Amino acid sequence: TELANIRNFSIVAHIDHGKSTLADRLIQSTGTVSDRDMKEQMLDAMDIERERGITIKANTVRIDYVANDGQAYVLNLIDTPGHVDFAYEVSRSMRAVEGSLLVVDASQGVEAQTLANVYTALDADHEIVPVLNKIDLPAAEPEQVRQQIEDVIGLDASEAVMISAKSGLGIPDVLEAIVKRLPPPKGERNAPLKAMLVDSWYDAYLGVVVLIRVMDGVIRKGDNIKMMQTGAKYGVDKLSVLKPAMVDVAELGPGEIGVFTASIKQVRDTKVGDTITHEKKGCETALPGFKPSVPVVFCGLFPVDSAEFEDLRNAIEKLALNDASFSYEMESSAALGFGFRCGFLGLLHLEVVRDRLEREYGIDLITTAPSVVYHIHMRNGEVQELHNPADLPDLTHVDHVQEPRIKATILVPDDYLGDVLKLCQDRRGIQQELTYAGSRAMVVYDLPLNEVVFDFYDRLKSITKGYASFDYEITGYRQDNLVKMQVLVNDEPVDALSMMVHRDRAEGRGRAMCEKLKELIPRHMFKIPIQAAIGGKVIARETLAALRKDVTAKCYGGDVTRKKKLLEKQKAGKKKMRQFGKVEIPQQAFISALKMD
Ligand code: GTP
Repeated sequence: TELANIRNFSIVAHIDHGKSTLADRLIQSTGTVSDRDMKEQMLDAMDIERERGITIKANTVRIDYVANDGQAYVLNLIDTPGHVDFAYEVSRSMRAVEGSLLVVDASQGVEAQTLANVYTALDADHEIVPVLNKIDLPAAEPEQVRQQIEDVIGLDASEAVMISAKSGLGIPDVLEAIVKRLPPPKGERNAPLKAMLVDSWYDAYLGVVVLIRVMDGVIRKGDNIKMMQTGAKYGVDKLSVLKPAMVDVAELGPGEIGVFTASIKQVRDTKVGDTITHEKKGCETALPGFKPSVPVVFCGLFPVDSAEFEDLRNAIEKLALNDASFSYEMESSAALGFGFRCGFLGLLHLEVVRDRLEREYGIDLITTAPSVVYHIHMRNGEVQELHNPADLPDLTHVDHVQEPRIKATILVPDDYLGDVLKLCQDRRGIQQELTYAGSRAMVVYDLPLNEVVFDFYDRLKSITKGYASFDYEITGYRQDNLVKMQVLVNDEPVDALSMMVHRDRAEGRGRAMCEKLKELIPRHMFKIPIQAAIGGKVIARETLAALRKDVTAKCYGGDVTRKKKLLEKQKAGKKKMRQFGKVEIPQQAFISALKMD
């Protein structure tokens, strides 16, 4: 296809503003998929998802469209991952296209996530067409939302397209706007091959499928190619475009988007943002901005029932097949037995994975305190990465500790602003910006990621009754007064509850933790001290009173068997507990103790 007749675009939208509905409409109204096939295809996709227990990611589609000017165009829609943790993947998808449709629900207005994605699109030099959706709703306020787009984002919205993706109203205008207002791609057909790896996923029949955007040159079936960042070499077995079913093609030229397979074993072998070229006579320089994805939040996942360890291993391996950004290694804990230490791109990623393990694979999990990655600067100049607070080296060798900081953007109705500012302040935040658009405020805070990983999002939602939207990006590492707090139950350290905290907040956290645990641990026949400590120093303490007269108290020394028998009696019927020394802690305590109020 001639470059002038190609348009590549993505759709930027907040969750529920109608991205999928609009995409479906564009596909349907151009006859890319017939109405009957549309339904069947959707069902198919869902069945396959259910059957394989994996998400079929790419909602990339190539649409053939004859415009009002009588010319035939190829429109490529690339779907971008929906959530904030995948900011890098979103940025790569955006680099693969020249423009975006900015879809805003006319009854809701601009949200934080929309903002972040619009800025990514602008960074990628996109032409942006604002689209106001859901104008069929009585609550729609298109004029106000149009003004909001201009005020908050600074885009000219005077020619925003008004649509109802649901009823189909305005869909032809969207297609014309794509052709008329978005620029065609640029590229050189006679130059060496240069293509961007945009995404990849695992298909049970085809193996790893790689989505690419060709920048320069031509890729053909049978070509020998190499990935410039990883150095891996492959032969192209199959080359297709997605309509959205795979349709084989002989070649893909500049500006085109398609997929290939090449006997690649795992999704892990493909790196989003890598440059693909020919093994011989390849291009000299790779595309800029490549960044290997690194996990930033770690936590331990253990089965509640240790007999489910193998099930957990299988489930994790399956999930990892299609999620290269999720890392895991086996871990054993004195308290929790065998499990996995897992790394995630962010908090939401962690929640999604944990949720899927529990829901789709039916495994009850204990999640240990999520920890960010700390940089431990040793006295000898070495820098270590700390993924698990339990592994903190001897402090006499540590010079200082650095923690990751984020830039958080929060959009919130005026009424709740005070509470939001207080929350951010309480979490060691530094306010950077505060602006208004209509009755909504936008605040930008510099916050330690550590303070956000626990329950920031939950708290934000609850104090704003769900009206706030939140987005963040990691900005860098900074030194602070950070210490490891341990929790001791009956004088035994419980590693799963160890955490790094800011020194000034340690007492508060420690006290809250001890109080919570006191409520959550059932009484035993003996008194149980519950303590929080830094190094050897106890900073908070609670005592759980004995259940009743301490029957073992009289069994000084000698009569160990009698003591044991008595304790055993108490134990009967309490299966869902973990034994810590002499104390049993219910599973629920681990999760609840980590949630701070
Ligand atoms: P995610 O898939 O969760 O990211 O959401 P999305 O942005 O893709 O939104 P989706 O297309 O799933 O639409 C969200 C809801 O809004 C659905 O219940 C749609 O039926 C509804 N919806 C989408 N477009 C319109 C519209 O034009 N009018 C009305 N009334 N409802 C719409």
